Amino acid sequence: MKIYDLIGIGFGPSNIALAITLEEKKQAGYGVESFFIERQPSFAWHVNMMLDNAHMQVSFLKDLATMRNPSSHFTFINYLHQKNRLQDFINLKTFFPSRHEFNDYLAWAAAHFDHCCAYGEEVIEVLPEKHGDEIVLLRIRSRDREQVIHERLARNLVISIGGQPRIPDCFSSLRGDSRVFHSNSYLKEIQQHAHANKIAVVGGGQSAAEIFMDLHHRSHTTEVDLIMRARSIKPSDDSPFVNEIFNTDFTDYVFNSSDQQRTEILNEFWHTNYAAPDLVLIEQIFKVFYQQKVSGIERHRFLRRHEVRKAISRPDGIQFVLHDLNTNCERTITYDAVVLATGYNRDHHKSLLAPLTPYFNNLTVDRQYRLCSTPHFKPAVFLQGTCESSHGLSDTLLSVTAVRTSEITQALMSLPNQTTAVQAKRAISSALVYSR
Ligand SMILES: Cc1cc2nc3c(=O)[nH]c(=O)nc-3n(C[C@H](O)[C@H](O)[C@H](O)COP(=O)(O)OP(=O)(O)OC[C@H]3O[C@@H](n4cnc5c(N)ncnc54)[C@H](O)[C@@H]3O)c2cc1C
Ligand SMILES: NC(=O)c1ccc[n+]([C@@H]2O[C@H](COP(=O)([O-])OP(=O)(O)OC[C@H]3O[C@@H](n4cnc5c(N)ncnc54)[C@H](OP(=O)(O)O)[C@@H]3O)[C@@H](O)[C@H]2O)c1
Repeated sequence: MKIYDLIGIGFGPSNIALAITLEEKKQAGYGVESFFIERQPSFAWHVNMMLDNAHMQVSFLKDLATMRNPSSHFTFINYLHQKNRLQDFINLKTFFPSRHEFNDYLAWAAAHFDHCCAYGEEVIEVLPEKHGDEIVLLRIRSRDREQVIHERLARNLVISIGGQPRIPDCFSSLRGDSRVFHSNSYLKEIQQHAHANKIAVVGGGQSAAEIFMDLHHRSHTTEVDLIMRARSIKPSDDSPFVNEIFNTDFTDYVFNSSDQQRTEILNEFWHTNYAAPDLVLIEQIFKVFYQQKVSGIERHRFLRRHEVRKAISRPDGIQFVLHDLNTNCERTITYDAVVLATGYNRDHHKSLLAPLTPYFNNLTVDRQYRLCSTPHFKPAVFLQGTCESSHGLSDTLLSVTAVRTSEITQALMSLPNQTTAVQAKRAISSALVYSR
């Protein structure tokens, strides 16, 4: 069986950016043979949240390459140039393209790597391959849509699988009830509820806010209850000094802080990203409720400081037992459909890596995103998007993506278990340095 230098699980922005960095290294003579495995049938970026008016939440300059190599072929600006839209984009006068356009950019970049990505396969586990006492390789097992199992061998691994829908406990027994779905599958599921009279949106983040406005415009009759535990919807703070926490050098600062300092930093800036819609969107929602006051017709309700205590599946709908955190009163309301805009968990890598647990030190990572392992475990396993607690709030976003791939590539290049092609090049370059 062929042995890859590196296998990447997932082919979202993080691993596309890594593929780009490796490709540029290849052009400079370092040949890391990589392969990626993606669950979706083709590239798509949060496809079920591709709402008509949704825009990027970071500058397009934090694309797949610019922050690492502004002269890369893979910058957003070069994409615009290739598509003959550069001048028109300039006239838009924005740093925040639509998510439709950014998705197209990402798909354009991803298409360069069709030869080294298997789409439509979900990785189900990663197994150790022993050689004597040592683990020298990893066996990556995936399942395709026809339930066929595939196996590949790799010297090193990078896991970049994004988040998994967070389902609050009181909804866990309703899995399989098509009337309850997460924002992650919103556009796919909402089509089946075109005639719903009453819909609940649970959550107070960007997803909940976007979905509320989408439902408001989608039908003129559907009533929507926006339900959240917080006292208010707070905007994400993207003012310039605060935004410095997403700078690449802030990663060093966070990583080098003590555990307690890191926790304090995360708490202090949590609302720059989580449960924090854009101010413009909040103003739109406020306007909807204000217009209801003007007309005297209450179509939607904003149920803040409300917690869903129970959710019961009934033939006539999903019945909520709602607890009002201000008054301590409970009431029941029945909905035709429920959207859980309740965010994402980022711990699925733990189950993929379960067979390797004995070799890892509590799944902690070093500065270059490599899992710390026992001496007998030779492969390097890198994590992208699950290192928020050690590397800071930018870890789940696009902000540091390009630079992070450079750091991972540097780590990869310096490993003793590389192919001869990589080692030969390293030997040549160190000889050149020596001869200077
Ligand atoms: C709706 C939405 C909009 C966002 N907008 C922004 C934004 O504007 N700016 C910003 O900075 N961040 C944004 N984010 C945050 C988002 O995390 C990043 O934009 C980006 O998607 C991170 O890239 P990633 O490759 O790490 O993860 P993802 O984009 O989530 O990609 C992970 C990939 O791994 C695949 N995968 C998962 N499990 C497996 C498996 N077992 N086997 C094989 N493949 C698997 C998935 O199908 C997916 O394609 C947004 C998030 C959401 C939910
Ligand atoms: N256009 C865009 O670019 C775009 C669009 C959508 C999302 N995003 C990004 O995607 C990421 C996730 O955003 P998100 O809005 O999906 O999630 P989020 O910001 O994590 O917000 C989740 C919301 O769900 C609530 N919640 C969580 N668990 C709950 C529970 N058990 N019961 C009740 N409420 C619960 C949270 O409330 P509490 O605060 O009370 O816990 C919070 O209001 C962010 O980075 C965001 O910027 C970007």
